[in-house]
Amino acid sequence: MYSEKVMDHFEHPRNVGEIPDADGVGQVGNPSCGDIMKVYIKVADGRIADCKFKTFGCGAAIATSSMVTEMVQGKTLDEAMEISNRSVAEALDGLPPIKMHCSNLAADALHAAIEDYRKRHGS
Ligand code: FES
Repeated sequence: MYSEKVMDHFEHPRNVGEIPDADGVGQVGNPSCGDIMKVYIKVADGRIADCKFKTFGCGAAIATSSMVTEMVQGKTLDEAMEISNRSVAEALDGLPPIKMHCSNLAADALHAAIEDYRKRHGS
């Protein structure tokens, strides 16, 4: 039911925690379940230099966030904005249809963190 990649990221999530001096922070809630996701980014030379997450969410939310924090490393902000819940789910070899909504949290929180960064830096 869950791919090996999903289970791996759920059992060994990457980049959990917060970045105290983050350049951008995004927090979103999932209206369908009430779970919460927070994503922190550091930006250097227009690229994501570090990304961490904290979630009050289900296993699929943990796995997708973990994958997002790996996918964004070194990406430009525009490239990072293009990461969608679908591309994250594909990188994890798929999610059960009933859990697809969980992958919105990670992508949405990442986009919110980038928007926060852009607001703070006027770019
Ligand atoms: Fe809420 Fe998965 S059930 S994010």
